[in-house]
Amino acid sequence: MTSIKVNGQAVDVDAPDDMPLLWVIRDLLGMTGTKYGCGIAQCGACTVHIDGRAVRSCVMPVSAVGDRNITTIEAVGKTDAGRRIQSAWLQEEVAQCGYCQSGQIMSAAALLAHVPNPTDSEIDAAMSGNICRCATYERIRRAIKEAVTL
Ligand code: FES
Ligand code: FES
Repeated sequence: MTSIKVNGQAVDVDAPDDMPLLWVIRDLLGMTGTKYGCGIAQCGACTVHIDGRAVRSCVMPVSAVGDRNITTIEAVGKTDAGRRIQSAWLQEEVAQCGYCQSGQIMSAAALLAHVPNPTDSEIDAAMSGNICRCATYERIRRAIKEAVTL
């Protein structure tokens, strides 16, 4: 049994130490907002926050999380940055197919929480690991700038 803290709640999960956090979140805890894209830290679809930092959950063994706080897309809207990012996403109608979007939102929310008014290059650096097959990149950038003003 491994104890982890997810979205403010302590939970015990029956997972092998090397099980990626992504599968713990999706398969053991039933929270399917966090997506599987590549499984090798190349696409960003599986992004969650650990102590407020964006992390690729597909390559993080659950045993490496320890007592740090995990936040998923299901609860990021309860943070100030997450709430602003999500409302800007709606205003700018960012999503197309939507598959990559929870990862995009998690990366953007982590950026805004640490850099209140990011420059274009800071946005590019923070978001470059999140791939969107629908190429919503321009709307993502607009929404991040919009979120700064909310
Ligand atoms: S599924 Fe984790 S980075 Fe692609
Ligand atoms: S909205 Fe379709 S992959 Fe990003």
